[in-house]
Order: sequence, then C-alpha cells, then structure tokens
Amino acid sequence: MKLRKAVIPAAGLGTRILPASKVVPKELLPLVDRPVIHYIVEEALQAGFTDIIFVTAPDKDLIRNYFSTSTNLTRILVNAGKEHLLDSVTSLMESARFTYVQQAIPLGLGHAVLMAREAVGNEAFAVLLPDDLILDAQNSIQLLAQVHARTLTSVLAVQTITQDLISSYGIIRPSAEQDCAIKVSGLVEKPTAKEAPSNLGVVGRYILTPKIFDLLEDTSPGAGNEIQLTDALHRLLEHEDIYARNLPGTRYDTGSPLGLLKANIAVALRRKDLSSQAALALSEELTMTKRC
Ligand code: G1P
Repeated sequence: MKLRKAVIPAAGLGTRILPASKVVPKELLPLVDRPVIHYIVEEALQAGFTDIIFVTAPDKDLIRNYFSTSTNLTRILVNAGKEHLLDSVTSLMESARFTYVQQAIPLGLGHAVLMAREAVGNEAFAVLLPDDLILDAQNSIQLLAQVHARTLTSVLAVQTITQDLISSYGIIRPSAEQDCAIKVSGLVEKPTAKEAPSNLGVVGRYILTPKIFDLLEDTSPGAGNEIQLTDALHRLLEHEDIYARNLPGTRYDTGSPLGLLKANIAVALRRKDLSSQAALALSEELTMTKRC
C-alpha cells in the first residue's frame, strides 16, 4: 500500500529555546521568512504524502492557524489584492489534508506518536520531527520510503554522531548492510558513549509499521522519564525486521539556539534570491566583530 500519512509531533515545550518559544511554538520560529514546520511539511508533500497529522499541545493553536485560510490577515490581504504574499503556504494547504490531534501532557515522543493512532489507522506511516532540518540531499523521507517499498518494514534515518553527542540520540545496533539498507538488531535511547552499540544515531525521520502502536500502548517511561519511541522500536524487533538508512546531507537541530541560527544561515545561503546578499552580510559582520 502506498504511504500516505505523515505524523509531525509538535507538542514539545521547546525548553532549549526559551524564552523565544514561550509564546510562539518553536516549530513556528522562522528560517528566513518561513517557519521551521513549513519546510518539514514541504518535505513530506514533495515525497508524495497527502495526509499530514500534527500532534500539538492544547495551547498550540498557532500551528493550526498557520495552515489555515481563515485568519484575519488572509482576509485583509485578499481585500488588498495581495494574497500572493501567502502563496507558498496556500499551495501547501491545497496539496494535502491536515489533521490535528492533541497530546494533553508532554509524556515523550513515543506517547506523541501514540496520540496519532486513530488518525493513522492500520497502515504504515511516516514520522518527521520538526527539530531536524536536512539540507543538501535528496528528500530524506522519500529515501526512507524507497527502502520501505523494498522491505515493507519500519525504516529509520541515521547519521554518524560524534562521541560527545551520542547521549542525546537514539542509537542503533547495526548488522548487515545491503543496497543502503542497514539491518537493525537493537536500539538504545540516549546511552552513554561507553554503552552505545554504535555511533549511528537516529535523526528525525521514520517510516513505521502500525504494529508500533500496540507496543507504544504498554511502553513504560524510559530515558528522561519519557515514553520513548526508541524503546518501542527495540521491542518491535521481537515481531518484525527494522532497517535504517544512512542519510546523506547536513542536519540542523533547529530546536537549539545555535542550530536555529546555523539553519537560518544555511537556508539564506542556499536561496537564489538571497545568497549573495546573505554572504556579503555575513562577511561584513565578521569584519565588524573582528574590529571590536
Ligand atoms: C528524539 C528521539 C531520539 C532521536 C532524536 C533525533 O530525541 O527520542 O531517539 O535520536 O529525537 O533528533 P529528542 O531530541 O526529542 O530528545
């Protein structure tokens, strides 16, 4: 069955990026002139997904407002004949169906995914974490979907993680690799560098089979006292194979202040309409700060 549904967990508190995220959800912070979540939805739609399921916190209506035509601003722009200023978001809205489910209490990524159970139903689906922006490569979720089309299993995106950052990731135990698909034989959420079964960390793209929901239903809190998707995936291995795909490209963690800054620079330098001015602005800033 063709993959159709993509879940975007967006209910986190964004504590790493406070106070910016106190009122504006971190997923709506801008990368140049579009919010982070805009790029993530665009990636899913370009890969052929047609149903976007957001998992949001009860007070995060702003995400729904962003993907909506019923705002006051839209009406004002339409009346002024300037609705084209919202073309990029309108075209996203026209090419997919958007559903919102709520995660009342932030109990972890595994719990957030479980909240989407009814909206997903009994079919394989994608999960895209909006903190992870991946540039300079073929569409990441599409690469995973290609592996899924061959294996019909869950497929995880991984990248090599430096020793000092291993304890921030879900780490896989890899076994055989064939045609860019690494067979996974175990997973550990946020291990110490010493305990880690490899240096391949899960980055925020997953294709999951619906069996994961049964396992999430009875997964106890793990690392950070949260219900971890990684722990449910480890248990899924008792029932099904799991593969990982080493992602090409550069990943930016937009959920941290430095990552968000780097992602802004990266996006600006890759935009045809902005790259030369952005490069000039950066070099001017560097010269100025050297002088101080
Ligand atoms: C989550 C996952 C972790 C994964 C990471 C990628 O962790 O639990 O397995 O490696 O995303 O960004 P978080 O960053 O939400 O703590």
